[in-house]
Amino acid sequence: MTKGYVVGKVADIPAGSKKLVEAGGRTIGVFNVNGVFYALRNVCPHQGAELCKGLIKPYVVSSGPGHFEYEREGEIIRCPWHQWEFDIKSGCMIIDPATRTKSYEVTVETFGVSVEEGDIVVHV
Ligand code: FES
Repeated sequence: MTKGYVVGKVADIPAGSKKLVEAGGRTIGVFNVNGVFYALRNVCPHQGAELCKGLIKPYVVSSGPGHFEYEREGEIIRCPWHQWEFDIKSGCMIIDPATRTKSYEVTVETFGVSVEEGDIVVHV
């Protein structure tokens, strides 16, 4: 059974940004990806770096030398130590999805008059 922790207001984490929070004795990164919130444990499964302090990046695809495109803008977090990349939506490593960091359910509880006034709740 999970417990919900209010970690901030919707307006605190604009689209494309993140916030580190404490919930249930853990440090968790809360991300706003195009208006949807996701939460990951702030521990890289490789060697334990603070994963959520890494850069938020797009996924880069290439059809050959000299050609590349960006996809999935804002959906990838890159670990600051050795640059392993993880899907913010699932916590899975991009090139090896079996390797992952813990992800948590996030809900927005809206009791005010607008969504921006809603509370972000992480369930751990
Ligand atoms: S500790 Fe994250 S990639 Fe090495």
